[in-house]
Amino acid sequence: MQKELEIKENNSSSSVSEREKIFLNKYPEYSDTAILDQLRAVDYARLDEQKHVYLDYTGGNLYAESQIAKHHKLLTADILGNPHSGNPSSRLSSQLVSEARSKVLEFFNAGDNYFCVFTQNASGALKIVGECYPFNQDGFLLLSLDNHNSVNGIREFASNKGCAYEYSPLHKENLYLDEEKLLKNLDSHPGKTNKLFAYPAQSNVSGIKHPLKYVKIAKEKGWDVLLDTAAFVPSDKLDLQEVQPDFASISFYKIFGYPTGIGCLLLHKRMFNKLVKPWYAGGTISLSAATYRGHYLMPNHERFEDGTVNYLSIPAITFGLEHILNIGIQVITKRVKCLAGWLLEELLAVKHDNGKPVLKIFGAHDMTRRGGTIVMNFYNKEGEVYSHNFVEQDANRHNISLRSGCFCNPGLDEINNEITYQDLERYFTTHEAGNFYDMIDFIGILRGAIRISIGLATNFADIETFLKFVNEYKNR
Ligand SMILES: Cc1ncc(COP(=O)(O)O)c(C=O)c1O
Repeated sequence: MQKELEIKENNSSSSVSEREKIFLNKYPEYSDTAILDQLRAVDYARLDEQKHVYLDYTGGNLYAESQIAKHHKLLTADILGNPHSGNPSSRLSSQLVSEARSKVLEFFNAGDNYFCVFTQNASGALKIVGECYPFNQDGFLLLSLDNHNSVNGIREFASNKGCAYEYSPLHKENLYLDEEKLLKNLDSHPGKTNKLFAYPAQSNVSGIKHPLKYVKIAKEKGWDVLLDTAAFVPSDKLDLQEVQPDFASISFYKIFGYPTGIGCLLLHKRMFNKLVKPWYAGGTISLSAATYRGHYLMPNHERFEDGTVNYLSIPAITFGLEHILNIGIQVITKRVKCLAGWLLEELLAVKHDNGKPVLKIFGAHDMTRRGGTIVMNFYNKEGEVYSHNFVEQDANRHNISLRSGCFCNPGLDEINNEITYQDLERYFTTHEAGNFYDMIDFIGILRGAIRISIGLATNFADIETFLKFVNEYKNR
């Protein structure tokens, strides 16, 4: 323990291998994830070739070279046509899309309970819910204050239909959902009919995992539940036999990097007839007429897949899922947990010589309910915050890819930077149009933070490089 502390205090001069030994002593289960080091050398070799430290897995995962090779081979060998037909090229596309769909349902252990609706991304999945959920004056939308904007935006669909909404708050100190208030909110609208509760399984900003048990609790209290799983599924198992949300949103590039432009809505079949599609498009109907106002919507997932699906890229979903299955999602979970645990502790220990911390890390300071995303701000020895742009540009010079800003999650930024309702009201009621930087100028409070997120191809050396980068801020 003493040795460990000495090394912590003397980060830059201790050898990596000595530190790695300490890490492995502390996290012996990390050795179970060695397959990811082997894969990194082959499938993600470009990272080390370019000495690139990639720490934006919540932004987008990295694809393995082997996924691309398989997809390339398929595209160059086969003749694939528009699936809305019966010719051989069309039939092959339909078969490959159908295989990918089955693979997705199997991957999430959905059984026969869910439809997999292919969309462009998680936002596309969320938009289907917003557009089709029967919000009305007798309904209610309950949102977690920790939500991506693509979930926040659903409130516009609700409001436009006269449906009220409310945010359920977080504890500022750990960024957990305030359970007491949440339960109270869930009990608050007993007489209402169409009640939707939307929250993320994992925060895209703080990395906090919000309890999956809230799905069952809310269901028992008469709510429909939208679980945004976009930031959770890249490094955790989602088992839809265990957790049974009515809706789950997913972007595949966040799980295995390639292809971009495809996500899905996992739609519980019990919800199918409750959704009201406000229009129809090619591919979504079994019949329609032009001179008579008549159409019949498809009785399955196709109802929500407007137009032609991305039939050339969807087969690559199968390769991506097979890639993750070959690794084992539990292996990824373990890897992320070990590296994030070590990193979190080490980051918290970085101090200026005057004792002031170099970083402020938002959210819980332990791994009990955390994934591999850590959000922070950097401070000089006088305790003044560096702008997130400054730190990002500095990281760029070190060939470290991290993320800065608000991360499409204004609720967390408002709570972390103590932006009040009144600040927001003053801005929004005096501006026809606006943007992030203009708002910062107007309210006079620096917003934004630095986010790093680790994933399946992260290794110990990446973490150490980032720690070295942080240590360069000591005594500045
Ligand atoms: C939690 C969460 N939800 C939704 C989204 C939206 O995903 P996309 O931009 O792929 O539609 C993201 C993207 O970062 C996310 O992290």
